[in-house]
Amino acid sequence: MSNSSEAELIHMFKGIPFTIRSSPELLKCLDAFDAREDDVLLVSYPKSGTHWLAGIITKLYNTQVTLTSPIEFGDISKLEELNKLSSKRIIPTHLDYNMLPPNFKKKECKMIYISRNPKDTAVSMYHYYRDNPNLPTIDTWTAFFDLFLKGDVVCGSWFDHFLSWEEHENDKNILFLFYEDMKKDLPKIVKEITLFLGLNINDNDIQDICKKSSFSEMKSDTEKENSDPNHTVCALTSNRKLIFRKGAVGDWKNHFTPKQNRRFEEIFNEKMKLSKM
Ligand code: A3P
Repeated sequence: MSNSSEAELIHMFKGIPFTIRSSPELLKCLDAFDAREDDVLLVSYPKSGTHWLAGIITKLYNTQVTLTSPIEFGDISKLEELNKLSSKRIIPTHLDYNMLPPNFKKKECKMIYISRNPKDTAVSMYHYYRDNPNLPTIDTWTAFFDLFLKGDVVCGSWFDHFLSWEEHENDKNILFLFYEDMKKDLPKIVKEITLFLGLNINDNDIQDICKKSSFSEMKSDTEKENSDPNHTVCALTSNRKLIFRKGAVGDWKNHFTPKQNRRFEEIFNEKMKLSKM
């Protein structure tokens, strides 16, 4: 990363860039976090559709659940705040598998990992860097493209993040989802989520939830609401208005040059040679 505000906004923890919205003290204490068996984690690399998934999941429950802010967001008081919640907790996170508090693994909490074509993820993240004052300034797409491929962006390398989770793809408590599958057939994926979470929801209700979770509905709901800085799904912003940009598959084609595409594919093939993706 290469600009003056970076030093004020970013710090490194275990080799991964975090924004100062995730305090080093909190990150150091995460290993001691006390998970509960009924916690549900929503896991993603930034810009993969976290808000979309969170919006759907909160509509699936008719019992009291709390969508918390990401586990890595805030300062040390965060852990106590989560401990105090009496309702079932839906907890978002952008942590890679290795950094996840071990208690979630030990207690086999349900986790949903959402992933997205890394080319579209890179483009979405580029716009996020440009619009989000919590992230360092980026001058050009070309500059960002290089940083993304090097993993020199918040939350580190897309490849490392994805691979750390993919290794656990067959764990029975982890459900893998793809943004593109949600775009293609949302009711089918929502059904899959309900089965995974053990929820009994009829097809009409699923259709209704899908309608309310469309890009246009979610964007317009967000424009109407007042954002509460403590209620965020993304550790990188509390301003939901920055989230709903285009919501499309294949926007990378409007940004990548043929040369960038070749370079991306080369690196993708190399890094992902053991992946099933
Ligand atoms: P774009 O920047 O490509 O538009 P996250 O929530 O992980 O930050 O991901 C944000 C991306 O998900 C943005 O992508 C955003 O537009 C997209 N998104 C959010 N809600 C969506 C929805 N209901 N349908 C499709 N895409 C959605």
